[in-house]
Amino acid sequence: MICSLGLVCVCLNRASAVEVTLDASKDNTLYSEVNNLSNGAGDYFFCGTNGTGSNRRALLAFDVAGAIAPGSTIDSVALELYMSRTTTGASSVNLYRVLTDWGEGLSDASGNEGGGAIATDGDATWDYPFYNTADPPSAPTWTNLGGDHSLSSSAVTSVNATGTYSWSLSSRMVSDVQGWLDTPATNFGWILIGDEGPGRSSKRFDSRTNLTPSRRPRLVINFTPPSVPGACCFVDQSCLVLSSTDCATQGGTFEGNSTTCTPNLCQPTGACCFGDGSCSVETDGTCTTAGGTYQGTGTDCTPNVCPQTGACCFNDGTCQELILDECNTALGAFEGEGSVCSPNPCSIVLEPFVDALPLPAVAQPISGTVGGVATYAIAMTEFDQQLHRDLPPTTAWGYGGTYPGPTIEATTDLPVTVEWINDLRDEFGTLRTDHFLPVDLCMHGPDVAGASPRTVVHLHGGHVPPEYDGYPESTFLPGASETYVYPNNQPPTTLWYHDHAMGITRLNVYMGLAGFYILRDAFESSLNLPSGEFEVPLAVQDRSFNSDGSFRYPAVWQDMFFGDKMLVNGKVWPYFNVKQGLYRFRILNGCNSRTLRLSMSNGATFHLIGMDGGLLDSTVPITEMTLAPAERADVIIDFGGYAPGTEIFLTNSAPAPLFGNPTEGLLPNVMKFVVTNEIGDTGAIPTALRPMEVLDEQDSAGARDFVLTRAPGSSPTCGDSWWLINDLSWTDDITEFPVLGSTEVWRFINQSGVMHPMHMHLVMFQVLDRQALQFIGGEFVPVGAPIPPDPTESGWKDTVRTNPLEITRVIARFDGYLGRYPYHCHILEHEDHEMMRQFEVVAPPPIPAASEWGLVVMTLAVLTCGCLILRKRRYAVLD
Ligand code: C2O
Ligand code: CU
Ligand code: CU
Repeated sequence: MICSLGLVCVCLNRASAVEVTLDASKDNTLYSEVNNLSNGAGDYFFCGTNGTGSNRRALLAFDVAGAIAPGSTIDSVALELYMSRTTTGASSVNLYRVLTDWGEGLSDASGNEGGGAIATDGDATWDYPFYNTADPPSAPTWTNLGGDHSLSSSAVTSVNATGTYSWSLSSRMVSDVQGWLDTPATNFGWILIGDEGPGRSSKRFDSRTNLTPSRRPRLVINFTPPSVPGACCFVDQSCLVLSSTDCATQGGTFEGNSTTCTPNLCQPTGACCFGDGSCSVETDGTCTTAGGTYQGTGTDCTPNVCPQTGACCFNDGTCQELILDECNTALGAFEGEGSVCSPNPCSIVLEPFVDALPLPAVAQPISGTVGGVATYAIAMTEFDQQLHRDLPPTTAWGYGGTYPGPTIEATTDLPVTVEWINDLRDEFGTLRTDHFLPVDLCMHGPDVAGASPRTVVHLHGGHVPPEYDGYPESTFLPGASETYVYPNNQPPTTLWYHDHAMGITRLNVYMGLAGFYILRDAFESSLNLPSGEFEVPLAVQDRSFNSDGSFRYPAVWQDMFFGDKMLVNGKVWPYFNVKQGLYRFRILNGCNSRTLRLSMSNGATFHLIGMDGGLLDSTVPITEMTLAPAERADVIIDFGGYAPGTEIFLTNSAPAPLFGNPTEGLLPNVMKFVVTNEIGDTGAIPTALRPMEVLDEQDSAGARDFVLTRAPGSSPTCGDSWWLINDLSWTDDITEFPVLGSTEVWRFINQSGVMHPMHMHLVMFQVLDRQALQFIGGEFVPVGAPIPPDPTESGWKDTVRTNPLEITRVIARFDGYLGRYPYHCHILEHEDHEMMRQFEVVAPPPIPAASEWGLVVMTLAVLTCGCLILRKRRYAVLD
C-alpha cells in the first residue's frame, strides 16, 4: 500500500488505527502556601495564581499501559479538560511531563476548593511528592519544589471562559504517551502550569472524581496496534514474511498481520478457469502451471466467471463434458453450458444416401402359395443388421429374421394362416427372459409382467375375428407361439402387421417388429397399376442410435419419442435408383410418434390412388401429404422424362411434435431417388380407380363422443397424469357396445394440445368432418362450421388425425365379427400410456315373439329415453 504524505491512508490489509479514551488514574493540586495543602480526593484541581499571589499547579496521570497493548504505536493524543471556574480572562496553560512519581491522598477541600485542604499521607504537595504527616515530615521532597517536570512544555492551550479545552496536535505529547507505554515505570503524568505571573490567573478544572462524569478529564489516544509478521511485498513482486517494521525498513509494503507469501500475494492475481468450469484466484503463472486459463488481473471468482461445461458431441455419437473452447478444439458440437452426457444427448453423424433402399423379401409359406391360400410360420428373432454403411451392426428384432419383416402377399377372400412364434433369444442363444431395451415398469402391463419380452401380433387394418386380432393382453413369451387365421374378407389395401403387447408396444415396434401385408384382388390387377419392380413398399421410421450401433430409446417413458435418423425399409436415408417411368409406392408411416409431411424436392406430383383402407375412387394429384403414425398412402410417382442421373429427394417438413414449434424436431431427409438411363413403366396413370361406397350419416345408429385429454390418473408413477379417453383407461369397464351390422358416428373431441392419430381395429371408417373447439366460459364448445375432409382423406381409413382443439367425426359400420377390439391413439407412447380402450361388437337383440312385444316396446322406450338423457348430457357441453 502506498500512502502519500499528508493524506489519510486507509490500508485495508493492515491493522488499522484504534482510538481509546482514558479516564485519569489520579490527580491532585499543589498549593504554594507553606502549610502543605493538597486536594487528592477533591472535585477539582487548579492552576495559575490566586488573588493573594499564591500559585496552584495540577498533577494528572493516565494508565496508558493498562489500556494499550505493548508494542503499539501512538499516533495522536488529545487531553480534554473542563474548566469550570475562573475570575480572569485568557491565560496560557502548559503541560509538562512529570519526572518523579507522586501521590493522590484523601485530602478533600471544601467550598470552591480554591483554598485546598491539609494534605493527608501520600498526597502530593508543593514540597513533597508523597507527603506524610510525621512531624517534621520524613518524606523526601521534590528536587524542585512545585513538582519535578521536564523543562520543555509538551503542549499549551489558552484557557479563557468556562468550557472544555483540549491539548493536542503535539508531537511531544505523542512521544510522552509513547514513552509511558513503552516504559510504564516512567509514567508520572503531566503537570498543568498556568500563568504564574503576579496577576490573578487561576483556573479550576473538574477532577476525575467530579460528580459530573462528562466533565472529568479525558485522554483520547489514537494508536496502531503492534503488528505480527505478515507478507511484505517488494517492487520485484517478491514476497517475504516480515514484521511491519522490518518490512518498512527494507522498503517493502506490508500486506497485513498474519498474511502469508503462499500464494505469492505480491504478484497480481485474477480468476483462473479450469476445464471443469471451476474457478480459483491465482497468479497468471500458477494458473498456467495448473493448466487453467488466466482471466486477467483483478478478475474474481465470485461470481464464477469461468465458462461452464456442457455436453460436447462427437460425430461417432460419443459425448464428453467439456467447456465450449475445449469442445471446439476437439471438433465436437457443444450442446450448451450445463448440458450433460448422461443420458447421452449426442447422435452419431451418418452420411445420408449411401445405402441402397432394401426391398423387404416376400414371405414364403410352409404350405400353399404366395398370394393364395397359404400357411406361414414366422418367428420373431433377435439379430444384428447393418442399418447404415458407417454404423456398427444394430441388434434388432424382426419377424422372419429381418427388420422390417417379410411382406405377406395375400388375395381378397383367400385366407392366410400364420403361426407367429416368439423366438427371441439373447446373444448366447437362450430364450430371452427380459427385454433388450430398458422397460419402464410403471406402465400398465410391465407393472405386472415386468421387463419380460412379451409379444402379440396385430394385423393393422385387417378385418379379422377378435381371437386373431392380437388382443394386447394375449401376449406370449419366447418359446411360445400363436396361430392366427386372416380371412382377408375386405377390399385390397396396404396393411401392416406389428407388435401390440400391452405397455411395451412402443419398445417392441421400435426394436423392429413390423412388416407389410399386401392384399390384392383381380379388379385392382385390371387397373394396370405399376407392379413388380415398379411397386415398392416404403416403411418410414425414425430411430436414434448409440455409438455402438444399438438402438437408443429412453429408459423412462416419455410423452413422445422422435428419432434423429430416418430409416426407410430398415436403412438410414437410403437411395433408390429408379427407371424412367411410373412407380407405385405404398408409403407407411411406421414411426412411434413422428408425423410426416412428405414432398418431393423438385415439387413432383404424388398421384394418390389409395390410403389405409384401399383404393380411392379416383386419383388425387398432390404435391404434399401428411401421414401420422400408422397412416398409409398409396401413390404413383412418374420418373419419366428426367435426365439420367437426376437426383430427387423425398423430404419431410413436419416439425415434431406436429403442432409444436415449427422449427423444432425437424428431420428433413427421408430418401433419395436417382433416375437411371433405363426406361421403366411408361403406362398411363389411371384416373378412375375403385368405386367407393359412401357411408351415410342418415344410416347411423347414433354418435359416440370420445374426449381426448391428459388427465390425472389412478397411478401417479408414470408421470402425474395419463393420456385418457373420456377419462377412462384400458382397465375401466367397456362403455362402447356397437351392434353388429350397425353404423355409428364417432366424434373424437381433442381437448389436448397435441394431435392424436386415432385408430380403430376391425373397421375401416370414413372421415366426415372437423370442427374447431374453443374453451369458453369454462367449457369446450364447437365454433364455426364443420369442415369436410381434404380429398387426401376421402377414402377408407383406419387411422385419423385428430388435431388439437378440434372435433373429428368419422363414420364406420361394425360388420363381420362379434367381440372386443381396441381403439387407441397410434402414437405408441400414448397407446402404452393408457390412450387405448376397447369396444365390443354385440349381437342385435333377437326378434321377439308377438306375445313379448309389449315388454320389448316398454324396455326399448326406457332404454331410448335413458340414451337420450345420456346423449343430451354429453352434447350439452358441445352443442
Ligand atoms: Cu396399428 Cu392397434 O394398431
Ligand atoms: Cu390396428
Ligand atoms: Cu395420442
